[in-house]
Amino acid sequence: MKTVLITGATSGIGLALARLLAGANWHVLACGRTAERCDAAKAAVLKENPDARIVFFSADLRQQREVNRLAGEIGTYLEQACGGRLDVLISNAGFVTSWYSTTEEGYEQQFALNHLAGFLLTFRLLRYLGAGARVILTGSNSHKWMKIRWNDIMFQRRYNCLLAYKQSKLCNMLFAAEFNRRFSKRLGIKAFVVDPGLVDTAIGCKRTGRLTSRFWSLRRRGGVSPEEAAKTYLWLCGQKEHPEGLYFGDCTARRGSRRSESEADARRLFALSETLCGIAFEEGAPV
Ligand SMILES: NC(=O)c1ccc[n+]([C@@H]2O[C@H](COP(=O)([O-])OP(=O)(O)OC[C@H]3O[C@@H](n4cnc5c(N)ncnc54)[C@H](OP(=O)(O)O)[C@@H]3O)[C@@H](O)[C@H]2O)c1
Repeated sequence: MKTVLITGATSGIGLALARLLAGANWHVLACGRTAERCDAAKAAVLKENPDARIVFFSADLRQQREVNRLAGEIGTYLEQACGGRLDVLISNAGFVTSWYSTTEEGYEQQFALNHLAGFLLTFRLLRYLGAGARVILTGSNSHKWMKIRWNDIMFQRRYNCLLAYKQSKLCNMLFAAEFNRRFSKRLGIKAFVVDPGLVDTAIGCKRTGRLTSRFWSLRRRGGVSPEEAAKTYLWLCGQKEHPEGLYFGDCTARRGSRRSESEADARRLFALSETLCGIAFEEGAPV
């Protein structure tokens, strides 16, 4: 039985993925923001599939302290129940917020959750990802209209909710590309970014102002179902060999933006993220 870890598994795309992968006989380690949300999601999965092998962990992944605690709990569980191996790590948790606010470390929250949490969690769990494993990040086509604001990466000077979101999705692309340059040949682990397309979820209504929330409740109606969006992830999880390509939508490799292919930006972001997380990736990588 293969093991997958999915963050943001209490609603939307992540919950659909948890249901579908549990139904396809995967051992699912699912993460949610609060224990209550996890209990509700677990009950929903088990109601549909009482034999599902699914376990939930809760952590507010905006806070690095919580990411580190979660990684410790997951590591213990992997060793006790999964032979110490994780086949796929899906960093899917994400959010949009209309208001500038910071984490305990003083980092802008969309940058912290949508990019740094996946970066740090990958580092902490790297030792469990053996050859053939995959790291999948939930990206977005919206990265295409963005460049990294190197002089104000946390939008401290003039916060713009949508630009901060798009930049965090560009960070997913740059992180995956640099991860592959460093580790895919050496460790046999490959990172991918999925563009789920426009999906009918509540993401734009959760922590946004009235106008944005109203706009999103109309826009989401044109989106595909979370189950439809989940297909590309299932395809990536199910391929025997690592597929060629980095960025996938509708089970097909796509080109990202020109900026997402900048090696210089990818290296710079990787180094900055290591500093912001207080880690050195090389130290987490098996030799
Ligand atoms: N919907 C779209 O059209 C679309 C398009 C492109 C990309 N995406 C991306 O898809 C991913 C999933 O979003 P979705 O559309 O499925 O929205 P969603 O239903 O709101 O799912 C987001 C998930 O992340 C969790 N989460 C939020 N804040 C968290 C925190 N601080 N710590 C831990 N978990 C947290 C949410 O928990 P709660 O259930 O407690 O809120 C939920 O499980 C995101 O990365 C998003 O950027 C979505």
